[in-house]
This record gives sequence, structure tokens and C-alpha cells, in this order.
Amino acid sequence: MTPNKRALHPSIVILTGAGISAESGLGTFRDVGGLWTRYNLEDVATPEGFARDPQLVLAFYSARRENLAGARPNPAHLAIARLEREWAGEVLVVTQNVDDLHEQAGSTRLLHMHGELAKTRCMACGDVCTDRAAIDPGRACAACGHTGELRPDVVWFGEMPYHMDEIEVALSDCALFAAIGTSGSVYPAAGFVRAARAAGARTVELNLEPSEVRSAFHEGRYGPASEVVPAWVEDLLSGRTG
Ligand code: APR
Repeated sequence: MTPNKRALHPSIVILTGAGISAESGLGTFRDVGGLWTRYNLEDVATPEGFARDPQLVLAFYSARRENLAGARPNPAHLAIARLEREWAGEVLVVTQNVDDLHEQAGSTRLLHMHGELAKTRCMACGDVCTDRAAIDPGRACAACGHTGELRPDVVWFGEMPYHMDEIEVALSDCALFAAIGTSGSVYPAAGFVRAARAAGARTVELNLEPSEVRSAFHEGRYGPASEVVPAWVEDLLSGRTG
């Protein structure tokens, strides 16, 4: 992006993590009571765990799908969707979350780098379909007819996140990078701030508490996302902050 266009309509990349959905009733992973304090991620979020015990993994994701059914966007999701509507430049949301709360809030420029809970993928043919029901291991793929090949379309540890090429281009071109509700403990997402900063972007984290990569950010705003994110968006749109 040429400098003057960038100055006129700076593009914003927003990375979100489980913390943005905490006030919508969806658990985080590493806080007290978080998912990884109750489940062994090796058993339920790795290809090896799925190969060992597919029923356990499918039950884990089926329970998360049930939890998702009643979840609604909170003011943080809604503020980000407002920013996309009212900001003159591009706003891209890169979410680590597999919930659909950004979509429900109205965000449209959105990349799910860890996949989506409400999608089922066939390992035999690659077909991906929207699916909010529990996955029955004996169910045949609607596209190819194979049975026993269905898994939730989420990215497990050890697998390549989705959309990395598009994300890298966006980070190299953005004027402002914000991370919201993420502990900064999982790469490549935790390294995005450094890529954006190296490309000249201003960087800010909005979180309940300083993350593991807090020192890489120019600025930090701390508190519940449903409070700090709407205030940050209001400051951006009113020109009080860059
Ligand atoms: N408002 C803002 N931030 C919050 C809130 C809240 N109400 N509640 C919790 N947080 C913050 C926590 O302080 C923590 O820093 O959200 C962060 C959640 O961190 P994690 O539980 O580690 O979740 P996340 O960073 O999204 O994990 C990254 O790890 O297990 C994988 O694939 C999984 O996408 C996930 C990735």
C-alpha cells in the first residue's frame, strides 16, 4: 500500500482469542477453570489423540457445539463489527476462536485461522459442511459416502493454521495491529505482533491482563473486553487514538 493511501485510510488487523468470547459464556483455555485445565489437550486437540480415541474427541467437540448454541456476541464483538462498518480503511479480523460470534456480530472481513466449530470436514474427500450437531462416527460423508471419516473442521496442535498466506500479507501492510483476548502463548498467532511492528505498524493489546508477549506491543489496555474494546473503537473513530 503506498504511504499516502496508508496515511489516508490505514488498514487495521485485529487478532482475537478466547478472551473476547469469555463474557459471552464461552470458556477460555488457560485461565482458572479453562478447557486445558479440565482436559488433556494431547487427548482431544491433536491428530494423535483423535487416532487413539475418536469417540473421546468427537464427544469433546460435540459438547463445545452444544455450548456454542446459546452463545451470543458481547459488546466487544459488536464494537469490532462497528469499526469495520465505520472505519475508512480496511479492517481484517483474524480470529483464533472457532466460535461464530464475530459473524453473529456482523463482522464480514474475517479469517478463522484455527477453523470453525460449526463445520465438519471429511478426511476422505475434504468436503466441509456446516454442522452444529454431534458428529456420529458412523455417519457417512454426504459428498463421498465414506463412513468413519468425519472430524470437526478445527485446527489441532501440530497442524498448519488456515489462511497463513493472507494473514502474512495483511500483517506486512497494516498500519495498526491489535490483539484482543489472547494469552500470546500459541504460535504463529503470538508472533503476529512482531511481524506487524517490523512492517511499521502501531501495535496495541487489549486484554484482561498483560499477555506473554506484552513487551512487543507499543500500548496495552487492560480490563474486560466488553469494556475496553468499545472504548478503544470509540477512540479510534473519534480520532483520539491511532
Ligand atoms: N476480557 C478480555 N480478556 C480476557 C477476558 C475478558 N473478559 N477473560 C479472559 N481474558 C484473557 C486472559 O487473560 C487470557 O490472556 O484472554 C486470554 C485467554 O487466553 P487463552 O485461554 O490462552 O486463549 P487463547 O489465547 O485464545 O489461546 C490461543 O490456544 O489452545 C489453543 O487453539 C487454541 O485458539 C486457542 C489458542
